[in-house]
Amino acid sequence: MRSSENGGLILCGFASEDARRYIFRTPVNTPRPKLPADDQRKLDALHTRLSGLRRYYVGYPCNEDFDFSELLPFFEFAINNVGDPFGGSNIPLNTHEFEREVLADFAEFTHAPKENGKDGWWGYVTSGGTEGNMYGLYVARELFPEGICYFSEDTHYSVAKVLRLQHTRNIMLKSQQNGELDYTDLRETLRIHRDVPPIIFANIGTTMKGAVDSLAKIRAVLDDLAITNSYIHADAALSGMILPFVERPQSWNFAAGADSIAISGHKMLGSPLPSGVVLARKSHVDRIARSIEYIGALDTTIAGSRSAFGPLFLWYRLRTLGREGITKMVRGSLERAAYAVEALRARGIDAWRNENSVTVVFPRPPEAVMKKWIIAPKRGIGHLITMPHVTKDIVDEFVADFAASIAAEKKSRTS
Ligand SMILES: Cc1ncc(COP(=O)(O)O)c(C=O)c1O
Repeated sequence: MRSSENGGLILCGFASEDARRYIFRTPVNTPRPKLPADDQRKLDALHTRLSGLRRYYVGYPCNEDFDFSELLPFFEFAINNVGDPFGGSNIPLNTHEFEREVLADFAEFTHAPKENGKDGWWGYVTSGGTEGNMYGLYVARELFPEGICYFSEDTHYSVAKVLRLQHTRNIMLKSQQNGELDYTDLRETLRIHRDVPPIIFANIGTTMKGAVDSLAKIRAVLDDLAITNSYIHADAALSGMILPFVERPQSWNFAAGADSIAISGHKMLGSPLPSGVVLARKSHVDRIARSIEYIGALDTTIAGSRSAFGPLFLWYRLRTLGREGITKMVRGSLERAAYAVEALRARGIDAWRNENSVTVVFPRPPEAVMKKWIIAPKRGIGHLITMPHVTKDIVDEFVADFAASIAAEKKSRTS
């Protein structure tokens, strides 16, 4: 990215001259305070440091391959998406219209129920996957105040915190070796608590292994035990933007029985600001809405003030890529994941991945690898996530480093 100095402000390569003109047109009553030279240097150093780290950011599922410079003109407005994106608001400086378009796209991706009498979906753009999961669990708790939440040991760490916050009884279940829920443990545990409505927290792509809990298998267990009152929330933080674009997706969406689904925006789609989308069956959501006079809106969301940029950024990605562009991006990532598994295995490293997953799992790498590469280890394993910015060239360098470090460790042990 190009950058140049101007009055203490770093301007990153504008996509259009219009963008530049808008920025300089900004009406400010107070002249922009000048950044002291020392602080300017600090800011520049941060930019240099972040630019250097990008190549090695391979262990977390954040897409770094984007260009939002066309949206820079909007940074002159204090915009706020407070309230329900489908209701009116006293604050017209919002991007609710764009938010609704984003939500409609995600409703299509997730096969959300079509508007029909009491049926239909509702949702909003969140601050990230965690808020989306919190919303889903909140709806579930409102429907079943006495319910018990079941989640596997491979569930994201934030879920236990959310359950603690809202005082929901919960039970952690075993996972299979590949990170997927152990359905036998689910069945046995549900059998013991058949009198209490279950709230199933399903992982649609676990954090460490990219495993998908099958909603069809979960439903089959519930049906088998004749449990009629239940709720399924799908945490599709990363894979929610992968599975709609593959040929043979696992059973994961509303059509497969989800009651709510949360997806992160800054993961596969990509955005410099964290964001996410949560969708839920409308019939469930209607129980929670409260009208608040001060903001002139329905207070349906967890956060009050909400970013108006999150929806704008997601909308921009959806419109510039289009369905075809997203499909190409996702398939490219999956191909590079398959390539990474092959390349690691060719060097004797025991790498594998789940179906439709961009998460390549391997034994915890030596310290030298961990120092150079930004990877997320957990106990005995580590992973590489082939997000769109992780090119074949980067995979090759990572594999070479990994193999060389193992060889060096072996050598030092034998000498
Ligand atoms: C499976 C899963 N769920 C939830 C989250 C939390 O999402 P966020 O970081 O967008 O809040 C993550 C983050 O990595 C995740 O991997």
